[in-house]
Amino acid sequence: MAGIYIHIPFCRKLCYYCDFYHVISNDDNTLFITALKKEAELRADYIAGNTVSTVYFGGGTPSVFNYKEIGTILDHLRKHFVFDTECEITIELNPDDITSDYLTGLLQTGVNRISLGVQSWRDEDLKLMNRRHTAAQALDVLENAITAGFENISVDLIYGVPGMGLENWASNLDKTLSFDIKHLSAYHLTIEPGTVFNKMKEKGLLKEIDEDDSTSEFNLLLEKTESTGFINYEISNFGKPGFFSVHNTNYWKQVPYLGLGPSAHSFNGYSRQWNIKDVKKYTGSVNSGKLSFEKEELDIKTKFNEYVMTSLRTMWGIDLDYVEKIFEKEGYDYVINLSGKFINYGLMKQDDNNLVLTNQGKMISDNIISEFIMSPSGV
Ligand SMILES: C[S@@+](CC[C@H](N)C(=O)[O-])C[C@H]1O[C@@H](n2cnc3c(N)ncnc32)[C@H](O)[C@@H]1O
Ligand code: SF4
Repeated sequence: MAGIYIHIPFCRKLCYYCDFYHVISNDDNTLFITALKKEAELRADYIAGNTVSTVYFGGGTPSVFNYKEIGTILDHLRKHFVFDTECEITIELNPDDITSDYLTGLLQTGVNRISLGVQSWRDEDLKLMNRRHTAAQALDVLENAITAGFENISVDLIYGVPGMGLENWASNLDKTLSFDIKHLSAYHLTIEPGTVFNKMKEKGLLKEIDEDDSTSEFNLLLEKTESTGFINYEISNFGKPGFFSVHNTNYWKQVPYLGLGPSAHSFNGYSRQWNIKDVKKYTGSVNSGKLSFEKEELDIKTKFNEYVMTSLRTMWGIDLDYVEKIFEKEGYDYVINLSGKFINYGLMKQDDNNLVLTNQGKMISDNIISEFIMSPSGV
């Protein structure tokens, strides 16, 4: 089993919170798609022998490509890889410029899951974040996607936004959960270095919400999703049973994946590699038959740290049998010794042979995870 991630780094406007690799441009789609296809051919061996269980078009804004272009990329991948019959094929959609025809066309290409970047149902929040769409546009797209026949729809929301407040967050959740969606990704706003929000914060023009408010908003998220049948399978991700994102779950379960496109990461169990973060250099080198990437071989401590960082964020937590098998007695003892205090404080619990965060623990997950990280020099 393996996944394929395709990074389409073009955006029409800069969202003030975003630090994902993207460029504001109308570059030549044909040249870029030719490079993606060529890269897929050149790197097919990377996941050779594995059936592809998920394809994910992420961005940037994958919907800058028309559905026929998305279809040609998928057809090309089908020629070079073996797709599982149930392959999950996701595309991230920004609500601007998505028509009913686009949605119907996408279904015909084999895309069977959409992830819609709603972020908030309040125009004030969307304006603050410099989103390109209004809440009404997002509503249209969501309704049209349901009508078009998409059965697996995910919505992205952001909370912890200055000025939003608990009541508006409650309304955002109620509205989102009133639709027949199967998945919700809800992220607490992070003010990332280098973003416009960070500059605004430094100038005193944007004030982050305080910790108590963050906690209240997260608690409300847990309550409302639970009462509507969603399972919090990863700190920011909620799915109805049978609708957890296969793609993301693979990341968290160390399943190999091939990343195509500028800045895309790949993982094969032994090493990670990441493509050059530059559209022009990427298309130039791939189209001339060369790959431009950096690579890191994963030593045992890096593997341990990655395992702890990802697994502790999920409902499956740290699997002690797996830790003993892969990281041997040293790793096992390390985890057991460290987890004791978190269990005593009610921040972690042991379910069968798995160590998971409690809801209280999820609130300070970053702090807990950082204590589990092994330093390169020793345990
Ligand atoms: C790859 S991003 C963008 C997807 C798509 N381009 C869009 O804008 O809808 C996926 C999601 O991460 C979330 N996100 C990105 N940066 C964030 C930040 N700094 N804080 C909180 N959420 C963030 C947003 O909800 C976004 O929809
Ligand atoms: S959030 Fe999405 S649309 Fe906005 S800049 Fe980031 S990748 Fe582009």
